[in-house]
Amino acid sequence: MAQQVTFGTPILDTEAIVKQVQQADELQHWQVEESENRLIFSCTLSPEDIVYGLGEQVRGINKRGGRYVSFNTDNPHHTDDMPSLYGSHNFVIVAGKRCFGTFFDTPSKVIFEIDWQNSGKILVTCPRDVTVTELEQSTPYAVAKEFLSLIGQNFVPPLWAFGFGQSRWGYKTQRDIDKVVEGYANADIPLDWICMDIDYMDRYIDFTVNKRRFPHLGTYAEKLKKQGIRLVPIIDAGVKVEAGDPTYDEGVQKGYFCTNHEGGFFKAAVWPGMTHFPDFFRPEVREWFGNCYKKLTDLGIEGFWNDMNEPAIFYSEYTSMLNSLTSAPSAECEKETNAYKDYRNFYHLVNGKRVLHEDVHNLFGALMTRSASEQLNKILPTRFLLFSRASYIGAHRYGGIWTGDNGSAWDHLRRNVVQMPSLNMCGFLYSGADTGGFGGNCSRELLLRWLAFSAFTPLMRNHTAILTRRQECYRYSGKEDFQSIVSLRYKLLPYIYSEFITASLNGDMYIKPLSFEFTDERSLRTEDQLLVGRCVMIAPVIEKGAKGRTVWLPEDMTEVRYDGQGFFCRQVPAGEHYVDVKLNEAVFYIRKGKCIPVGKGARNTSELDLRDVQLIGEGNCYEQYVDDGFTKELSLDNVVKLVK
Ligand code: GLC
Repeated sequence: MAQQVTFGTPILDTEAIVKQVQQADELQHWQVEESENRLIFSCTLSPEDIVYGLGEQVRGINKRGGRYVSFNTDNPHHTDDMPSLYGSHNFVIVAGKRCFGTFFDTPSKVIFEIDWQNSGKILVTCPRDVTVTELEQSTPYAVAKEFLSLIGQNFVPPLWAFGFGQSRWGYKTQRDIDKVVEGYANADIPLDWICMDIDYMDRYIDFTVNKRRFPHLGTYAEKLKKQGIRLVPIIDAGVKVEAGDPTYDEGVQKGYFCTNHEGGFFKAAVWPGMTHFPDFFRPEVREWFGNCYKKLTDLGIEGFWNDMNEPAIFYSEYTSMLNSLTSAPSAECEKETNAYKDYRNFYHLVNGKRVLHEDVHNLFGALMTRSASEQLNKILPTRFLLFSRASYIGAHRYGGIWTGDNGSAWDHLRRNVVQMPSLNMCGFLYSGADTGGFGGNCSRELLLRWLAFSAFTPLMRNHTAILTRRQECYRYSGKEDFQSIVSLRYKLLPYIYSEFITASLNGDMYIKPLSFEFTDERSLRTEDQLLVGRCVMIAPVIEKGAKGRTVWLPEDMTEVRYDGQGFFCRQVPAGEHYVDVKLNEAVFYIRKGKCIPVGKGARNTSELDLRDVQLIGEGNCYEQYVDDGFTKELSLDNVVKLVK
C-alpha cells in the first residue's frame, strides 16, 4: 500500500515515479516540522530496526549511525564519512516490528541523519517542495518490490554488456586498444568490450574522434566486432567552448546551453578547458544532444558511458572572482567546494521558467542519461549499453550506473559489496564498480578477489586511472588464475543474464541482502554475503591476506567451487562454516532445492550459447530466460523450463 503527500509546489515533476499512487492528507510514520525554510521529517527508531536504502551511499547495508547528504558530487574519497557521492537515491526502508519505506522526491539537497550520534531517530531535512511517498508492507523485501513497481522497469543492455569489459584512462590510440585485445587473447582470458576514455576525442571535444589516433574508427570498430569485441566511448557533460565545432556552434545558435546571472552562457572548466553545459531540463535540448550520439553509432558504436555529469566543475571565472572578493566565508561555505558555489551561478529553463541549478541539481546527470537513452533507442534497432556516473531515482529506466572513482583498496571492495543491494532497491540493477579500483595501484591479490566478486555484478568492468599501475589482467603474473575467475563469469552468464532479465520484468531485485529472504538474527546482521538472483548466495573474500573466510548458511545449501577446471559441488548443512578459498577460485552457494544453468563458457558472448547448459545444484528444474541477446522485445514468454 502506497500513499503520497506533496508539500509546497514542486518546481518540476522529477518523473521518478511512473505509477500514480493514492493521495493522502497526512503521513503515517513521520512528524514534520518547518525550520529555516526547510522541512524536517522525523521518525523514532526502535533499537532493533534496520534502515535500508539510499542506493550508492557509503557505510553499510544497514544505514544506522550515519549522516548522508543527497547532493551529487564528484569526489574520489569514498570513505564512510563522505556525505555525498555521485548519485542521489532518497529512498529508505525501516524494518523491525513495523516495516515501511519512504521516498523523498525532490531534485535538490536532502540530508538523512539515521540514528546519527545515537539519536534513536531518522531526521530527513528537505527543501520545502517535496513529494513524500510512503509504502507499507510486511517485509522489507516486499516494500522494495512495491517501490520498484512504482518507479518502472530498469534499463536492460544487450548480452555483450554482461561480458567482461576492460578500461583504462590512458588508452590513446588504436594501437593501445589493439594491445589490450591481443593481451587478453594471448592470455586466453575472455573479453567483450573495451572502453575508450577521453583521449579518443579531439582535445576532449564531445562527438569528435582524433583522426591521428583513430584514422578510421568505423572500419576499426567493425573489425573488432568481427572478433567479438565492442568499443564503448565516453561522453562528457560539458561541451567545449570552441567556435567551429558543430556541437558547440549549434548549441550556441539555438540557445541550448545553461545560462549565467547575466543571461549569457555559463562557462566552467572541465577536461576540455572551458565548456558550456547543455540544458538537459528542456526536451528539445535532450533530443538534440541525444541525437549527437549518432555521429558515433554511424561508426558502429553500440555503447557509451556518460561522465562528469553531476556536473563536475574544476574551475569557473565567476567563482574564483567571488572567492577573491569574499575574505570571510560563512561556516556553511567553508565546507563547500567551488563546484557547490558554481551551482548557485547558473540556470536552467524548466517549463519556460528560469530555475537556479542548485534547486534541481540532482536531476542533471539523470536527464543526460535520459537524453542519450531516448535517442539511442530511436537510432539503434537493438539494445545498447549506456551507463552514467551521476544519477537520481528514475534514471535506472534509461541506463545503468557505475560507482565512480573508487580506489585500489580492500575497503573499496567491501563498499562495492554493500552498495550493490542498496542500488538494487533503488532500481539500479545494471551497476558495478571499477573492478580493481580507479585510483591507486592494484595488487594481484586484490584484483583477483575483486574479480571474483564482480563476476556476479551485472556491470563487470576493470577500470583504472592514468598513471596508476597497469591493471589489465594479463599484466599480472600467473595469468591462469585470472583466466579461471573471468571464465567463471562466462560459464555463469546463462544464469546471470536470465536472472537479471526476469528480475527486470518482474519488478524484482537482482542482488539482495540475506535479510530479505532469511530472518534469523545472524542473517539480519550479515553484510558481507549477498543473494544473487533467486538461487545463488555469494560470500566474497574481501580481506587482505585471507586464505578463506567464515560463511553463514541460513539453510542447507550446495557449495560450488570453481577453479578453472570444473565445478565441484558438495552439500553443506545450515550453520557457520570456515571455507578455504584459493586466489584462483570462486566459491558460491546454491540455495536449498534450487539449481542453476551453467554453460560451456566462451572467449566472448558472440561465441556463447545460452542454451547449451547443464543444471547444477540440488533442485531439478530451472526456468531460464533466453533470447538472442539484442532484441528490444523482452517478454516472460522467452522463459523455457529446463529439467534435469
Ligand atoms: C572521471 C571518471 C573516470 C575517467 C576520468 C577521465 O574521473 O570518473 O572514470 O576515467 O574521468 O575521463
